Amino acid sequence: MNITVVGAGYVGLVTGVSLADIGHYVTCVDVNKDKIAKLKEGLSPIHEPGLESLMLKNIDDNRLSFTSSLKECLKDTDIIYIAVGTPQNKDGTANLNFLEIVAEDIAMNISKDIVIVIKSTVPVGTNEYIGELIKAKIPKDISFDIVSNPEFLREGSAINDTFNGDRIVIGAENDKAASIIEQVNKPFSVPIFKTDIRSAEMIKYASNAFLATKISFINEISTICEKLGANVDDVAKGMGKDKRVGNQFLNAGIGYGGSCFPKDTNALVQIAGGVQHDFNLLKAVINVNNNQQTLLVEKARQRLGSLKGMRIALLGLAFKPNTDDMREAASIVISTGLLQEGAEVIAYDPIANEVAKHVLSEKVQFANSINDALTEANLALIITEWREIIELDFNNVRRLMIDPIIIDGRNCFSLDMVKDKGIEYHSVGRPALK
Ligand code: UGA
Repeated sequence: MNITVVGAGYVGLVTGVSLADIGHYVTCVDVNKDKIAKLKEGLSPIHEPGLESLMLKNIDDNRLSFTSSLKECLKDTDIIYIAVGTPQNKDGTANLNFLEIVAEDIAMNISKDIVIVIKSTVPVGTNEYIGELIKAKIPKDISFDIVSNPEFLREGSAINDTFNGDRIVIGAENDKAASIIEQVNKPFSVPIFKTDIRSAEMIKYASNAFLATKISFINEISTICEKLGANVDDVAKGMGKDKRVGNQFLNAGIGYGGSCFPKDTNALVQIAGGVQHDFNLLKAVINVNNNQQTLLVEKARQRLGSLKGMRIALLGLAFKPNTDDMREAASIVISTGLLQEGAEVIAYDPIANEVAKHVLSEKVQFANSINDALTEANLALIITEWREIIELDFNNVRRLMIDPIIIDGRNCFSLDMVKDKGIEYHSVGRPALK
């Protein structure tokens, strides 16, 4: 199949590269000409394990190309995937501007019958709305179908998730369009679930909201565990042994960040409000998460009293490991809180330092290694559970820090690992070690 993917961001690029790798001829289109120039050279604009090598392989095999002209590729394409961003408006609703622009562009340049697949996360009813927009502007003798095909990839493991996903959801109003997209995806060997368009759109929001709910739930449990002397990690393990509960997404910590959960939970509250339903449960999930992000600063204040003049190392800045994505990262809230209290903040991330320099306050200092960050620090806060941080050398912690005190926002170490190492260790939902 000849496929065009519009939007070469995280979702579009991973989709395009993966579709090329299973044998389709894919052109990725993006309005950002600098990005396209880099992609043509085989350089990925995002840090995503395995993406760049797969990209190079498929460029070499002539199955993957890049352009900034949608018009150029519409001539030969059978299927258009739309994977442009739907950022959050001030009121929490999803902003559909990019999608509307692409819809118009498609309508103006389309010259044969096609299937249009919407991958972007969009409020229920948007696929129909975009269909209407296109219909109003295309030539009368051309027909198209809209298919909703939401994305379930996680940043940091996107390629692995594409080839080993739990399901591919295809929402369509007619069987023919659904079976074309089913055939396109068949080589992934991932189970396919077919439904109507509105349900497909809702599956995406409901899935992200449910996962966010699991995280806020275990974070609430962790607060109670901490007060009662229980260990939240063991509680989560014990709960997860029940298949109905499941053992994933029960890691207590400093809450969820990233470009998806915060945006999609807010959008679902708005979607519910649009049909006069007050989604109280999800509002509480969001509140718990906002409070959770301030937890480490609160713990630092409790431990040190005043933070004024204290040198505090932040270990990990990205919203999760294996990505340089800083969107809605807890490190933003935490570094701001520490600076407000008069602390000196020295930050280190194995990959995200450069991106973080544009996101965090200019008062934040950056270190080139964990050891540099720890040197002469009064306190270290663990924000992101990178492998390098999980493998922290406790001898260095004792040797380099003024006071070897760690407050771990990700429970990177079991209590047994830290016991008797001469380190004061505070974590989330577990007894402190002094
Ligand atoms: C999430 C979903 O997991 C994907 O299925 C979905 O496709 C994607 O959003 C999206 O909508 O595009 P992602 O945001 O990349 O993926 O990352 P996750 O691995 O889900 O982590 C999100 C946040 O939750 C991170 O800040 C992570 O640290 C936090 N988290 C995750 C926890 O605090 N505890 C956990 O147990 C799991």
